[in-house]
Amino acid sequence: MDKSKRAAVIAGNWKMNKTPSETTALINEMKPLVAGADCKVILCVPYIDVFAALDAAKGSNIEIGVENVHWAESGAFTGEVSAKMLTEVGVPYVIIGHSERRQYFGETDETVNKRVRAALDAGLKVILCVGERLEQREQGVTDEVVRMQTKIALQGVTSEELKNIIIAYEPVWAIGTGKTATPEQANEVNHVIRVLISELYSKADADAFTVQYGGSMNAKNCDELLAQPDVDGGLIGGASLKAQDFSIIVKAASK
Ligand code: 13P
Repeated sequence: MDKSKRAAVIAGNWKMNKTPSETTALINEMKPLVAGADCKVILCVPYIDVFAALDAAKGSNIEIGVENVHWAESGAFTGEVSAKMLTEVGVPYVIIGHSERRQYFGETDETVNKRVRAALDAGLKVILCVGERLEQREQGVTDEVVRMQTKIALQGVTSEELKNIIIAYEPVWAIGTGKTATPEQANEVNHVIRVLISELYSKADADAFTVQYGGSMNAKNCDELLAQPDVDGGLIGGASLKAQDFSIIVKAASK
């Protein structure tokens, strides 16, 4: 992290976990543990938990997000939620392009871009996920894959709009597997993303841009990951479902 240049952000991705009442309980438990953190703290929750989460987080330093958004304003898209619906209820953040959406729900680089555009147009802030699969790492095409995903996701995004985007580098092989990227691997790819931002926009934009690492980040390995110069925070899955563990990661980012 280099907090003199850019914001450090720790975000939880709850995935398909926690009911509304469990949401209230977990956020109430987290609030005192993360109060006064010297980093941004975001919790991205299932749609159904949004009201409970916004309510529980009111008056605290925890900001709320969701885990996907559709690109259309409205229409015949059964089961989907629009950006306008989210802004009306006061949700500031949305995760877009998570590898589980790409893997199980047919998300492509093109649909990721459409969702990013819709989110930005509605005034949402985006946590954009990119990352290579294991075979792509083994084939030596990690940088190419991550550059391509990022470049397509950012089509039509202006330098001003870029301020409302964070990228989370999440190697697919490290998600939920307990296999964390080494701090050096995480830093290397985060740096590749920053170089691309500098090519597409400017060095100043790249320096100010937050790039998180995600994939089995936990209370034990967070210190060394966050010590890397290009790792500006974390997108946390499993460990964000435990108040103590999540707060340890927030404290590590607050140092
Ligand atoms: P885990 O921390 O459970 O590996 O999940 C990471 C992730 O996918 C966050 O979006």
